[in-house]
Amino acid sequence: MALHYEGCEMSRFDGRVAIITGAAQGMGEATARLFAAEGATVVITDVLEEKGRALAADIGGDAVFRGLDVSDEASWAAVVAFAVERFGRVDVLVNNAGMLQFSSVEGLDVDATRTLLGVNLLGPMMGAKHVVPVMKAAGKGVIVNISSVDGLRGVNGLSAYTASKWALRGLTKTQALELGPSGIRVCSVHPGGVDTALGNPFGREGDELQANYQNVPLRRIGLPEEVARVTAFVASDDASYMNGAELAVDGGWSAGTYYPGLPGTPS
Ligand SMILES: NC(=O)c1ccc[n+]([C@@H]2O[C@H](COP(=O)([O-])OP(=O)(O)OC[C@H]3O[C@@H](n4cnc5c(N)ncnc54)[C@H](O)[C@@H]3O)[C@@H](O)[C@H]2O)c1
Repeated sequence: MALHYEGCEMSRFDGRVAIITGAAQGMGEATARLFAAEGATVVITDVLEEKGRALAADIGGDAVFRGLDVSDEASWAAVVAFAVERFGRVDVLVNNAGMLQFSSVEGLDVDATRTLLGVNLLGPMMGAKHVVPVMKAAGKGVIVNISSVDGLRGVNGLSAYTASKWALRGLTKTQALELGPSGIRVCSVHPGGVDTALGNPFGREGDELQANYQNVPLRRIGLPEEVARVTAFVASDDASYMNGAELAVDGGWSAGTYYPGLPGTPS
């Protein structure tokens, strides 16, 4: 029976198997909980083994944890083989794992940037490489790439991260073109300002936290569950004609810039 997720009674993922990366905490955790609540068998993957196992146990049912470093191809091959052997299918891949790196343009750390690109860009590419043959054999599947508001516009101090998230958005378009004819949909979700370890690394709360989000039209940080619900929509049959689309879940952050003195600029 589907677990309940804050009053959720739907079961859009009954009989479906989803692999979610970076799912031990944050948005990945919220996504795993929601998918399971809606009937999915969730393969929770992460490099954080203890947290991931605890989450799988807490979700219960068929939820299972597997260690996966998304920057390691052998690790991908093993997780997809496990899912196929144990559950016989993979209907959804959510490429959620990601990392952040602050740097000025001239302060570039090349090795750290290679590591970041391995996780944020090559990770989703390798995931698709390994999961697509399984989806093609089934004649259907969905890949959701978790990009960022920083994949929709530039941001200072985050050149490697921003480049990786724009690249993931571009990758999504190419995959949508290549895989659509096989019945596989690929879309990108672009969260912006979400209260997780990555989005709120100093664990700020209340006014101190919201102060950093006063330039977001909704004037607050987002919650992991608010992104998870959009990811679930994209992955479900409710979005059956959506392919190659990019969905901003950012309180309007990427919508534009307030021009001082013009009507509508918040005081
Ligand atoms: N929080 C935000 O404000 C925000 C905004 C835009 C986009 N995002 C994106 O959302 C996704 C989820 O981030 P989050 O905010 O939940 O942060 P988070 O730090 O809570 O979660 C990221 C997860 O990815 C995992 N991870 C990191 N490197 C990995 C690797 N090599 N292999 C496997 N797993 C790995 C971490 O262990 C962690 O569990 C990321 O891709 C992030 O870039 C977050």
